[in-house]
Amino acid sequence: MQGGRIETGPHGILENTSANPDMLNQPSVKSTQASDWDTHWKSLDSERRIFSFLSLATRRLIFEPTVAFYTRRFFPPEGVFVEMGCGTAESSAAVDRRDRKLIGLDFSAVALHAAQQARRMDGLMQADMFASPCRTHSIDGIWNLGVMEHFTEPQLRTCLREFRRVLRPGGILLLFWPAENNASRWVLGPPERLIRWRRGTEFTFFPGEVSRLRSKSQARLLLGSEGFRVKTIEFNWRTAFIHMVIAATAE
Ligand SMILES: C[S@@+](CC[C@H](N)C(=O)[O-])C[C@H]1O[C@@H](n2cnc3c(N)ncnc32)[C@H](O)[C@@H]1O
Repeated sequence: MQGGRIETGPHGILENTSANPDMLNQPSVKSTQASDWDTHWKSLDSERRIFSFLSLATRRLIFEPTVAFYTRRFFPPEGVFVEMGCGTAESSAAVDRRDRKLIGLDFSAVALHAAQQARRMDGLMQADMFASPCRTHSIDGIWNLGVMEHFTEPQLRTCLREFRRVLRPGGILLLFWPAENNASRWVLGPPERLIRWRRGTEFTFFPGEVSRLRSKSQARLLLGSEGFRVKTIEFNWRTAFIHMVIAATAE
């Protein structure tokens, strides 16, 4: 793993100091959702080559520079930053390291293996972001892209509460959260409908996107009620009109 291990000492971020932080040595997380995501990441290698290519191109051309831009803008130059739901960590390939320690957390072992090979993070953790092993107030910033839309409202609340627990007061939360009506739906919607029609079964390229963001005020209300102060919400050409970018501080 690049950069070695995640610190477990008093200045580290792990709750249980006897835990082995090397993600591949951790017991696998028991969750049906984790296995759904394992299947998703595996299938990108085989069946869905065209989608895989499009998804790679979108990450390189749009997500990478967008994530780099906003992390540079909102994250302080030093500290510990965790991508909650990092997947293969490709979208974060261009995040400026400076004196930052970048940690990727995901519950899919398949995705983490790919992230490990790509060597983009200083450390990786296999864990559930709803109940992470991170210590309270130990993290300076959290970010994720393409994750929140997969959670139901009660899950979103649990997740935000957990983010707030592990962020230090004043720590930054940076979410790249797809808008309900976004440009990737215009591209992926028609082929999804065609595949559903041909197979006669339900089909989506991603496991259910149940909570795409309907409006900026929806995000403000949700984050505000979970103890975050929203600094800005943007939906513009920089995100190719796919994600709303939300920057907030933990109060
Ligand atoms: C659509 S992928 C996005 C991955 C990455 N951010 C990217 O840009 O490609 C969502 C990721 O969230 C992870 N995930 C979903 N629920 C999770 C949970 N409760 N705990 C940890 N990871 C989770 C999945 O395993 C998956 O890798």
